[in-house]
Formats: sequence, C-alpha cells, structure tokens
Amino acid sequence: MSDQESKLYPPPAQIVAGAHVSGMAAYDKLCAEAEADYEGFWARLARELVTWKQPFTKVLNASNAPFYKWFEDGTLNVSYNCLDRNVERGLGDKVAIIFEADNGQVTRVTYRELLERTCRLANALKAQGVKKGDRVVIYMPMSVEGVVAMQACARIGATHSVVFGGFSAQSLRDRIQDAGAVMVLTADEQVRGGKQLPLKAIVDEALGLGGCETIRKVIVYRRTGGNVAFDPARDAWLHEVTQNQPATCEPEWVEAEHPLFLLYTSGSTGKPKGVQHSTGGYLLHAALTTKWTFDLKDNDIFWCTADIGWVTGHTYITYGPLALGGTEIVFEGVPTFPDAGRFWRMIQDHKVTIFYTAPTAIRSLIKAAESNEAVHPKRYDLSSLRILGSVGEPINPAAWEWYHANVGGGRCPIVDTFWQTETGGHMITPLPGATPLVPGSCTLPFPGIQAAIVDETGNDVPNGQGGILVVKKPWPSMIRTIWGDPERFKKSYYPPELKGYYLAGDGAIRDARTGYFTITGRIDDVLNVSGHRMGTMEIESALVSCTELVAEAAVVGRPDDTTGEAICAFVVLKRPRPTGEEAKKIAAELRNWVGKEIGPIAKPKDIRFGDNLPKTRSGKIMRRLLRSIAKGEAITQDTSTLENPAILEQLSQAN
Ligand code: PRX
Repeated sequence: MSDQESKLYPPPAQIVAGAHVSGMAAYDKLCAEAEADYEGFWARLARELVTWKQPFTKVLNASNAPFYKWFEDGTLNVSYNCLDRNVERGLGDKVAIIFEADNGQVTRVTYRELLERTCRLANALKAQGVKKGDRVVIYMPMSVEGVVAMQACARIGATHSVVFGGFSAQSLRDRIQDAGAVMVLTADEQVRGGKQLPLKAIVDEALGLGGCETIRKVIVYRRTGGNVAFDPARDAWLHEVTQNQPATCEPEWVEAEHPLFLLYTSGSTGKPKGVQHSTGGYLLHAALTTKWTFDLKDNDIFWCTADIGWVTGHTYITYGPLALGGTEIVFEGVPTFPDAGRFWRMIQDHKVTIFYTAPTAIRSLIKAAESNEAVHPKRYDLSSLRILGSVGEPINPAAWEWYHANVGGGRCPIVDTFWQTETGGHMITPLPGATPLVPGSCTLPFPGIQAAIVDETGNDVPNGQGGILVVKKPWPSMIRTIWGDPERFKKSYYPPELKGYYLAGDGAIRDARTGYFTITGRIDDVLNVSGHRMGTMEIESALVSCTELVAEAAVVGRPDDTTGEAICAFVVLKRPRPTGEEAKKIAAELRNWVGKEIGPIAKPKDIRFGDNLPKTRSGKIMRRLLRSIAKGEAITQDTSTLENPAILEQLSQAN
C-alpha cells in the first residue's frame, strides 16, 4: 500500500448520494467524454450552463495558438446570466447575497434587488460615458456594492480591473496606468477589524502621482461617511449618480472572447501583469466548477471568504455562485474580529453549508483555538456544514486533519482546489461526492483539464517523480493574454521547449500508486505569503527605490508555520552595516517603505543587513544560498563559484 492510500478518506455516502458528480465512475465517465471528444465535451457544457444570445457554432479556434479562442461566434452577457436569468427562472425573491458587515450587521439582497442595483449603476456608468471595452478600475471594500460594480461593468461590456483594497497608491497608480482605465470606483473608507481605513484618499494620492490622465471620473460609495476630499469636477457619489437611473438596463451582448476583466498578478520578473480573461469561456468554468467542485444546490448557503480583489473572489463570489442562482455570504471583516471565533459564529448563525477558505486562515485559527477555548470551533454549532474547501497555497496535512475533524466534524469532504489567477477556475481538485481524499493532495484534474507533470523538455515524467506542472490542452477559462504585452504572455506561459503546453509555474508530483497530484511549490521567483502571490523582484525593486538608504537588495522566501512562506530580505545599505537597535530601526523604516510602495502584504518579515550579498565572480546573486540562510540551514551547497564566501557567515549571524 502506498503512503497515500493508507490515509484515504472516502467520500461520505450522504454526499455521494445527491451529488452532481456522484461516485468515481461518474468522474471517470466525464473524463472519458472529454478524452473522446474534447470540443464536444466543452460545447455540451457551454450550452447547458450558459445562456447565449447568439448561440456559438465554433468551439475552439487554435489557429493562432497560444492565443486560443473559445465559442468565438457566440454572444452573451455575464450579468444577464448571473441576474436576469435567475429572476426569469422565478428566483427573484431568493436571497442572492447575505452581507455581514464588520460590526456584525446583516443585510440580505434578493436577486431582483441585485439586478435593479446593477442596472442603476450600469446606467450611471453609461451616463458618465463609459463604453464597451473601456477599462474601469474597482478599488472597493468587500461589499454588495463591490459585487454590483463588477456586475454593472459586465452588463455594459466595460472591462473591470479590481485592485485589492490593501494595495498602496503606487500599486494602484501602476494598475490604472497599465490598463488605461477611464474611471475608478471606490469607497470613502473600508472597515476591517473595527478600524476605518482609507480608500478614497489613496485613490486621490494615486491619481496625484501622475500618469493616470485617462481617468475621467471617480465614483465613491459612501461606506462610513468619513471625511474625504472631494473634487466636484472629477468625483461623484455613487448614491447620487444612481438615484435617478432606471432599474432596468438592456445588457450589452458581447462576443464570447470579449475581455470581461483584467486582474493584475505577480510574475517572476518585472511589474505585475494584467491577466486578461474572456467572457464566455470564463463564465462557463466559473459556473461549472462551482457546481461540481462545491456541489452547489438550490438550498445551499455558500461562503467563500476571499476578497473580491483576488481571483478567488471574482470566480467564487461575483460570478460562479450567482450564475447558478445560489445564496452566498459576503463578509466585510476579518476572521479575528471581534475574536477568532468569527468564522465559526458566522457559519452557525447563517447555517452555512459550503465553506471555502485559505490554509493560512485555518492555521492562524488553529493557533487561536489552541490558546483560547472560547474560540475553538467545537464551541459552535457547525452541523449545517456539508463541504469544506481550501485554496491559494498548499494545505499541510496537520492543518487539513484539524479542519476536517474540528470544523467539518469528520463528516465534510475538503476540496483542496489548485488553480491560479491565470486559470480562471479550479484545475486540480477533488469532487466532494466522488474523489477519495488524501490530506495535502489536490488529488485529480477537474474533468476536461489535461494537467500533467513533465521534465524541462516537455516529456512526461513517471508517477512518483517530481517535475513541472503543465496543462496539455487549452481550456475555456484560460488567460487570453497579458494586457498590452502578448509577447510576455507567450514567454511566460508557452515557452517553446514545452511542446505547446501551458506552464503553470508550479512544481508537482503524482503519487506512484494513486496518481494523485501534490503541488510542491513555485518553480520561479514567485512567493506565496498567506495565499497572496508576490514576485521577489517587485519587493526588491521597492527596496532599492529607497535610494537614500539602500544600495542593493535580494528577497527570498522561507517557510513559515502560519503564512506558508515569509518574505526575507537581504539588504546592503549605502552606509555601514547597522547592528543592534540601529538595525531594528532601519528595518522598521524599510518595512514601512515597502508597505507604502506595494502594500502592507509585501512587508518583509525578516530584514538582514550585510556588507555585501553572496555573488558569483560574474556578479550574479546566489539566491539558493540566501534561501538556505533564510531558513537557518547549514550551507551544504557548492560555494566554489562564490566570490566572497565570508559574507555567508556574516548574513547567517545578522538579523
Ligand atoms: O503556487 C500555486 C498556489 O497559488 C498560485 C496561484 O496564485 P494566485 O494566482 O494568486 O491564485 C490563488 C487562488 C487560486 C499557484 O501557482 N496555489 C493555489 N492553490 C493551491 C496552490 N498551491 C497548492 N495547493 C493549492 N490548492
């Protein structure tokens, strides 16, 4: 028996019984269907799950690979599919969103109300001159308005680009500029953990940095009523621009390939890239994965704890659950306020049936529960739960077991979903009513997804041997290009040596016996801190942009019990190497600097100062040595090419 088989958790009979994909035979049958007729498989599902204005006749166009097109002669509207269609089906009075504010106040919004609010805003955007194809930046808190803003853009064919509310003015400016956006939708402030944090002020600062001349209007949702500067020529209140608008708005029927959104994410080099997603293929996979991976049914209460600023919030808050007519929670706050029992209390209060969160949240709540009985999940009634999910980073088996036993009461399957901003939706994941689970493994590819593990030349590696994770065939919700940089798209995801396979950027291994996938981590210079993806180069650029202090910087990741990875920066200053209190003071200054340049999530946990960095004779920084130092490991690697071996000793001791 392989190690994995000894820990198999078969799907519970009561989940298998009514599941959309019931039993492994059903899973195998879907995979076989895709194998036998790949295009026919996706076409069937695209007809079943998506309502088309003009039905497509072409499925996949690979003539300009890797710029694939799906369903290209079909037309549709995503907001019609998520809202009108549900009202037309008789779900107008069904609750679409249960919004819980940071302070615990609960608001319910039905499909009819959501449709009306979306139409009012869509009309307001049109009245402000926003047209099909224009880019609109959304810098908003977790709110019904945030979802409405995205849906309203989709309704009029404007391409949204949501920027996470934790990003700094500089990051926001870069994204506005790269997208050439015509409008920003924001809020006066956001409320998290009992604190009011600025949003509008950051927009003002971003626009003040220059380079955002394309912006014609800033629309502001009044969340807190806090004091904000207002430029009457440029700024307008959301409630004012929408109040006299009609509650109906004819959807803009767009081609399937029309860009629904851009979402900026980090790569291993250069500035963040604007991942461009389509309309038809994206919506299909958002709906399909919500249906099969979460087994979403009409009476479920679905809760994805992600922020709409990340792809998880796009696919599993704004689009997937609404496309299926589901009821979902939108949560404004943080898991630790007013105490670390918040998630468990909300599951109890709202009778949540499907709960989807990140390993980093689970790990921090384990710590909290272990030190304070009162916030332990066993103190709450979590019996409504039927399915649990995990996303964003590998979940370590110990956290998996705790989540399974203490949150799921031992009866809820955990779907460990592997995917990426670029993939639009789940790629490798268990299906709860079919797949036997192994803690720490994302198990098997979603039906139709041709995931595989290959070597550097694109040849398959046998099970049990690690390699590079690829996807052999294009799939409907894949990234279409990097906004404004098709060459970078090709270079990043379709390197010539990989035989036309999509390169995910992760390493993986398949179990020798079960064939299950385990993700072993990024194979490039991308870090994953608390499930947030960051490029080491971005953080290095931010550090060296502090030209007064910093001469040189190198950033690596190191394992961290709670955040998965932690950012560790090695810095050479333009002044003698500081020690003791002075080192602490400068480290704090640099942390704040990075916070201002990128956002608080990018602040290095460790900053070590050296007289130099370990370099080869040709001047290349030897990052693998820095990785070992960051981990506190003894250096066992070959250091013969190192020009300045003494520096290793110094950096190992510095902190
Ligand atoms: O390294 C993988 C990790 O997160 C990366 C994608 O990050 P992002 O585009 O921000 O999207 C996160 C939400 C989908 C991947 O390349 N990752 C994501 N999910 C998992 C994971 N690693 C292991 N297991 C997962 N379930």
